[in-house]
Amino acid sequence: MTKRVAILISGGGSNMVALAESMVGDHPARPVLVLSNDPAAGGLEKAAALGIPTASVDHRPFGGDRAAFETALQAALERVRPDILCLAGFMRILTPEFIERWAGRMLNIHPSLLPKYRGLNTHARALAAGDRTHGCTVHEVTAELDGGPILGQAQVRVLPGDTPETLAARVLPMEHRLYPAVLRRFASGDRRPVFLS
Ligand code: GRF
Repeated sequence: MTKRVAILISGGGSNMVALAESMVGDHPARPVLVLSNDPAAGGLEKAAALGIPTASVDHRPFGGDRAAFETALQAALERVRPDILCLAGFMRILTPEFIERWAGRMLNIHPSLLPKYRGLNTHARALAAGDRTHGCTVHEVTAELDGGPILGQAQVRVLPGDTPETLAARVLPMEHRLYPAVLRRFASGDRRPVFLS
């Protein structure tokens, strides 16, 4: 049975594009919605150009009421009955209640080799620490921020003279390889982690 995948974005959606373009042929999943918390997210146009239904739930009118925002988010999701949620550059913190509802069916990509550098500014932190390798991780989303079971990692070498920008530019293409590889395996029911370098 083909798995139905909803992809949540906040910005340009380059990971969303990589995921959407991978779900073809004998891939066990298909994209059914691209959903953004920002109605102006560039990724929404890219999704529409790929023929994927889109929706947005602007988080700003909800102020600090995360539960109300998530109720609207859940309603948009339930309309397409997704089996799997992929967070792809989605920049809102989700409540434990929302996460619990999707436990075991929600993935995220994070630009570091978790458990190192949970949270933001990962590339600058890896450089400041003098790390020789860096990369990205796909993990199941749990209530612990960037802390769920690891489903895949991709490594890049840190080069002399790297800046956060040059490092990010080397990690992003690896994200675009890793996330589709993990989703294909996850959608087929295989939770063995994927490692790329
Ligand atoms: C990427 O660095 C990703 O790791 C992080 O958000 C950034 C932008 O992603 N989660 P995208 O281009 O919007 O997919």
